[in-house]
Amino acid sequence: MKILVTGGCGFIGSHTVVELLNQNFEVVIVDNFYNSQKDVVDKIKEITKKDFKFYEDDCCDEAAMRKIFSENKIDAVIHFAGYKAVGESVAKPLMYYQNNLDSTLILAKVMKEFGCHKIVFSSSATVYGDPASLPIKEDFPLSTTNPYGTTKLFIERILKDLAYADKDLGVVLLRYFNPIGAHESGLIGENPNDIPNNLMPYIMKVAIKELPQVNVFGNDYDTKDGTGVRDYIHVVDLALGHIKAIEKIKDETGVLVYNLGTGKGTSVLELIETFAEVNHVDVPYQITERRPGDIAACYADATKAKEELGWEATKNLEDMCKDAYHFVKRVKNL
Ligand code: UD1
Repeated sequence: MKILVTGGCGFIGSHTVVELLNQNFEVVIVDNFYNSQKDVVDKIKEITKKDFKFYEDDCCDEAAMRKIFSENKIDAVIHFAGYKAVGESVAKPLMYYQNNLDSTLILAKVMKEFGCHKIVFSSSATVYGDPASLPIKEDFPLSTTNPYGTTKLFIERILKDLAYADKDLGVVLLRYFNPIGAHESGLIGENPNDIPNNLMPYIMKVAIKELPQVNVFGNDYDTKDGTGVRDYIHVVDLALGHIKAIEKIKDETGVLVYNLGTGKGTSVLELIETFAEVNHVDVPYQITERRPGDIAACYADATKAKEELGWEATKNLEDMCKDAYHFVKRVKNL
């Protein structure tokens, strides 16, 4: 099967491409390097010892997308490409709506034109807003608190409408919880250039002494130790979920929705402590104000993915912390 991976050089995209190649899928990547590094293409080849086609293009460029589909008989698409910074989306909503929605609409249009009927979409647990109860199941009410999240929710709705109208279409919506970690080779991982917004990249910058301390955003939440609780999942586990989704939708139509999480809640302090312990490093922190828009706790009920896809996360928090640090040490030559 030939799979087009949009955003295939990004954090989750690159790990998914590795697993696809490991399982002998043919892969075509399209990426414009907006938020990814060019050397990832070679790193993927180094890890897998396999080759694939790569296009440096923007998914909003309809002519470029048409060229990709005309040069390759694409059987299914995994759609990662998109802007993903919550704070930036609040400041620049037009940019987020335009890019994330346009690219998906163009992709869907070109897929139809070329008779490609299978798509796996990279959605997020952000579509559950502030959940009324935990753990979160796929049929919980949906709402969002920022334009980034709203683009994810809109795209889910668009794909549902398309599948309703086109009975040949098969769609899988994968709602990720908090992906962290890196490939065990240390060759690919998450490497933000600026000051990171997310917790794990921030912890890593503190561990390598590029930043002085982690700011823990509030310790008065109604959680086990007062700090925010999230469902951290190893990016390789997440990548494997995409393979299961492709295998599932190959012979089906309609829309399938799955949470990809571990089902386990971890607090900010637990993550900091685990990281420091398994990597034998200091991770100083201070308690600061809550971050506006944050929720107290968020973790998955992942039983649907287990029952229907035969998928479940196998890596634990220690693996996530070790692999993330291994990657950052290699990048920084430490
Ligand atoms: C965030 C996004 C979410 C997106 C996800 C992608 C927000 C509000 N939500 O999720 O939409 O899908 O990233 O990975 O931004 N924390 C600190 N100090 C820090 C950073 C974070 O204490 O410097 C805390 C947060 O308060 C939270 C936890 O760590 O309790 C995780 O935060 P983060 O990594 O930013 O992820 P989310 O906010 O869950």
